[in-house]
Amino acid sequence: MGTPQGNHGAVAPQWFPGATTPGQGGDFRPLRALGARGLLQLAATTSLAAYAVWAAVLMPGFRRVPLRLQVPYVPSNAQQVANVMGLLRERTGKTADLGSGDGRLVIAAYKQGLRPAVGYELNPWLLWLARYRARRAGYEGKVSFLKQDLWKANLSDCYNVIVFLAPSVKDPLAAKLLAELPDEARVVAGRFPFPSWTPSSTMGQGLEQAWAYDMKEVRRTARSSTDGCTL
Ligand SMILES: C[S@@+](CC[C@H](N)C(=O)[O-])C[C@H]1O[C@@H](n2cnc3c(N)ncnc32)[C@H](O)[C@@H]1O
Repeated sequence: MGTPQGNHGAVAPQWFPGATTPGQGGDFRPLRALGARGLLQLAATTSLAAYAVWAAVLMPGFRRVPLRLQVPYVPSNAQQVANVMGLLRERTGKTADLGSGDGRLVIAAYKQGLRPAVGYELNPWLLWLARYRARRAGYEGKVSFLKQDLWKANLSDCYNVIVFLAPSVKDPLAAKLLAELPDEARVVAGRFPFPSWTPSSTMGQGLEQAWAYDMKEVRRTARSSTDGCTL
């Protein structure tokens, strides 16, 4: 006598009347029993539930932001923060993180002497978390987290701008930064570089890599490539 191994002698659990176990190649009666209409309803309900989670938990506050400009929350890891801060060493002046998440980069910037340090964020949960982290670090009232759409923020007085955003928004973002930032500003991009800009320096490897762009140089290169086209 022993315990039956595998399915020898064992009856497959009937999780739906008359069904074979799914994944065994038998007919999949629960889905059949649902019928086309039931399947459609199931798909619609699942999509609605997924959208509700997306809208309420992951992307609340984003209703007015066009879908193509929405970037979900993925926090920088410790090495990415270190690389960004390395590229901002010895800099001064107003520093902004566009899409500041839980505030780790803004807090790190302030610690490094970059002041004022400001984060723009639309997700209220993340704003709450960022302010909580700032309070715990003893920086309440010293760093700012603004509930503002980064696409509508006026960046003309920013000298250091951090962007940890998706490649899909890099082109419109490059246009905004070119139009608004002073010549002395430096932009540091984490994880994804600006495809049409030449970096002045970089730090790290792979997913941890960050790139620094000096606006004066970016503008000069952009001008000379336009001149080259017209010659
Ligand atoms: C990839 S995460 C980076 C978070 C943080 N900078 C970090 O590196 O840990 C991008 C963040 O941008 C925020 N975000 C996306 N679009 C935004 C918008 N239009 N205005 C303000 N924040 C935005 C998201 O909520 C998310 O927290």
